[in-house]
Amino acid sequence: MDPTARLLAACRRQPVDRPPIWIMRQAGRYMPSYREVRKRVSFMELCRTPEIACEVTMMPIDQLGLDAAILFSDILVPLESMGQKIYFDKAGPHCEPAVRSAADIDKLTVDGAVDGVSYVYDAVSLIKKTLNGRAPLLGFAGAPLTLATYAIEGGTSKHKHEIRRLIYTEPAAMHRLLDKLATVITEYLRRQIQAGADAVQLFDTWGGMLTEAEWRTFSMPYTARIMEGIADLGAPILHYCLGSAHLTPALAELPCDVLSVDWRQSLSSIREATGGRYALQGNIEAGILRAEPHHIEAAAKACLDDYGTGPGHIVNLGHGITPDVSVAAAKHLVECVQRYGRERAR
Ligand code: CP3
Repeated sequence: MDPTARLLAACRRQPVDRPPIWIMRQAGRYMPSYREVRKRVSFMELCRTPEIACEVTMMPIDQLGLDAAILFSDILVPLESMGQKIYFDKAGPHCEPAVRSAADIDKLTVDGAVDGVSYVYDAVSLIKKTLNGRAPLLGFAGAPLTLATYAIEGGTSKHKHEIRRLIYTEPAAMHRLLDKLATVITEYLRRQIQAGADAVQLFDTWGGMLTEAEWRTFSMPYTARIMEGIADLGAPILHYCLGSAHLTPALAELPCDVLSVDWRQSLSSIREATGGRYALQGNIEAGILRAEPHHIEAAAKACLDDYGTGPGHIVNLGHGITPDVSVAAAKHLVECVQRYGRERAR
């Protein structure tokens, strides 16, 4: 089956010869070839240079034989053209100055922000051309709530007290920030799709820190607005939220095609809870990639068996691949999923 047709069919819950597999963070530090590139350029320089972003995007396609490519970039990239300085070091990402007040939010740019990252769309076109139909290309963005978390905390934060403070004490300012982010991200994803992305994933990584009522207030309306704002382009929309079991009833109202499930929940239970109305993506626990090959094979089978029969499964990990994994282990997982997936489909 044509690889692009396979992914698009799986997203739309149509029959496939076998479920496709790709891996969140598939181009990254676990690959010696990626680490070589990073000796030469900083992470942001990599994102800003379409030729290098393309080279890195192709690495897991060439080395692992995955069924989809994902644009090499980061969810924080658009915050830079909205006015924050973004950089990465050993402590993780930094977004400076942190957005802490209504006045800070007013200073963030919306007009021109999408044009400010035209290198992203150039990378998408170049990758699409380089792939030449070998694999479909996923674009992506952060959901407003998750981007707001980084913008407000100023980077990675364990307790996320600053965003909680803003939610509790200045909800109107928080809504103003989320509104700005939703406007930018809608156009940002439209431009990625117009440049050649076959499908797009929205990462609401930190949505799970909220209660269902809070998520319905501070994340869902903005995420749904983005999904509705790109629907006419016809590219399937995938949604990922970490630690979101308590949000399942709300997630099952999102206007998207695919829900990406983390490793804590069984795919069969989410399939049942969502009435089979969504394709599901996931959800092998990433730590299995440090185990011996036969354990990896067992995990691949367990994941496919858990989803069960019928279309609408895209295999992935439950979260991003970690730097301590070998390329050989990741490749073994891909081969097991592809082989067992094909056998089961017969
Ligand atoms: O999946 C891919 O291969 C595509 C590229 C991609 C990256 N980040 C590359 C990256 C994607 C889709 C992301 C998404 C992203 N970025 C998310 C959502 C997904 C998730 O993991 O929940 C989030 C929360 C971020 C923010 C981010 N970027 C953090 C917290 C970090 C530091 C921690 C870490 O894992 O290094 C990054 C840096 C980052 N983004 C790296 C890569 C390959 C490592 C940078 C390096 O080379 O040093």
